[in-house]
Amino acid sequence: MRNNFDEAMHYRHACKLFDTTKSITPDDLKFILNAGRLSPSSFGVEHWHFFLVRNPEMRESIRQASWGQQQVTTASELIVIAYKKNVRSTDTYIQSEFDKFSYPDGFRNMYKEWIDPRSDDVLDAWSAKQVYIAAGNMMTAAASIGIDSCPIEGFDSAAVEKIMGIDTSVYGIAMLLPFGYRVNQQPALHRSELSELITYLN
Ligand SMILES: Cc1cc2nc3c(=O)[nH]c(=O)nc-3n(C[C@H](O)[C@H](O)[C@H](O)COP(=O)(O)O)c2cc1C
Repeated sequence: MRNNFDEAMHYRHACKLFDTTKSITPDDLKFILNAGRLSPSSFGVEHWHFFLVRNPEMRESIRQASWGQQQVTTASELIVIAYKKNVRSTDTYIQSEFDKFSYPDGFRNMYKEWIDPRSDDVLDAWSAKQVYIAAGNMMTAAASIGIDSCPIEGFDSAAVEKIMGIDTSVYGIAMLLPFGYRVNQQPALHRSELSELITYLN
């Protein structure tokens, strides 16, 4: 398990061009989506939603709103990861999550006191942070079965929301996440050494 995980971490890279002749099987797609679904989230309220963009014209418009990045149109699957907005305890979705998992009153009160007073901007940023955890797990899961990905933040969110017809009172787009199969060999991995990244406070 340890070796498989390490192999997946080294296999994953930000793939810039996907092979348009290769498709991800429904089973493999489900495996990737499940890695997102099973991810942890603050208070367990699952701030994410996954839009699978399969319409070719919509994909092309999204590419144009994403600095022309060809990953968007060459990928076998384009998953647009959205975060939930207005995640205060009064929100119907949040209440349904509380009820679905039978969260106790103490937990709901803590959420109300700690989360509700935040401004809309801070709340959105908090919600979007959770979604990145799901995205990370999805990319590693994909790599573990030989599927490539590229996290994309380089896009005009207002334009993409409009193209997709997203209800922006409910969702914001955090990331475009294309999945498919590489055409080119992956470049060398550039990472700092652990010794540069760690400070021990003994
Ligand atoms: C949040 C986020 C946004 C990114 N946005 C883009 C992007 O818009 N286009 C792109 O080609 N790569 C994007 N990347 C990929 C990074 O540039 C890449 O992960 C980094 O350079 C390290 O390279 P590697 O992932 O191949 O190891 C993004 C990565 C992250 C985590």
